[in-house]
Parts: sequence; structure tokens; C-alpha cells
Amino acid sequence: MGKPALHAMDDPLARVNVMEYRRGEALNWHFDRSEFTTTILLQAPEAGGLFEYRRDLRSPEDPNHEGVARLLRGEDPELRRIRLEPGALNIFRGRDTAHRVTPVEGDRPRLVAVFSYFDRPGVRMTPDEQRGFYGRAA
Ligand SMILES: [Fe+2]
Repeated sequence: MGKPALHAMDDPLARVNVMEYRRGEALNWHFDRSEFTTTILLQAPEAGGLFEYRRDLRSPEDPNHEGVARLLRGEDPELRRIRLEPGALNIFRGRDTAHRVTPVEGDRPRLVAVFSYFDRPGVRMTPDEQRGFYGRAA
């Protein structure tokens, strides 16, 4: 990432999360608020649960609404899709790269650990942000 150091978030709720996607569950297209995200796939589903992304769809200077609309219509030829293997470490710059997880198929859930790092120590969510993300403050 070109950073001199990385610090785990100093937040008891946001530092590490494990997300479970069961049959039919997915994560819709979005951009991340953080500059990059670090994940490890703990368990792969039997099928589906693919990671799809479209690199550099926007920039801080250009929100590229037309390009976002093209992606949402399923007409972007630059869309990429990967099937992560269990144990795969994925370091992903999601602020300007749109991404989603396709619906999980089968009985085995997709389990992914999400780690939140920053280039400075002591970063925490506000209590309002914690309530928005997790339904409670800590
Ligand atoms: Fe994301």
C-alpha cells in the first residue's frame, strides 16, 4: 500500500469482523469508505459467493455517474470476477473500485474475516457510526 506502517483500528467493534453469507445472501454493488480493505476467506460456499469488481470506476475528481450506471445495467466489459479459495488473503483498494459479492448457493455459508487498518494509530468510529453499522455502541 506504500504506507510506512499500518495500525489495526482502535475500535472494539470495527477492528475485526467475521461476515457470514448464507444461501441467497449477497452484498450489493458499492464503494468502500476506507481506502483499502483486508480480508481472509475462512470458508467458501458450494457455489456462488463470487467477488466481482470493476477497477477504478471513479476517482476523487470524477464520480463517473454514467460509468456507474453502465455497470449497474450489466454493460461494463471491464467487470472482473474471482472465486476466492479458503485462506485467500485479499488486500483490496475499494474506495474507487466498485465491488460486490454474488448470491451464495448451497448449504455451506461463505465466511470472511474483515480487518480494518489505518495509516495512523487510534482510529475509532463515533458512537453514532457504531450504532449505524452494528446496532450498538461500545
Ligand atoms: Fe466493500
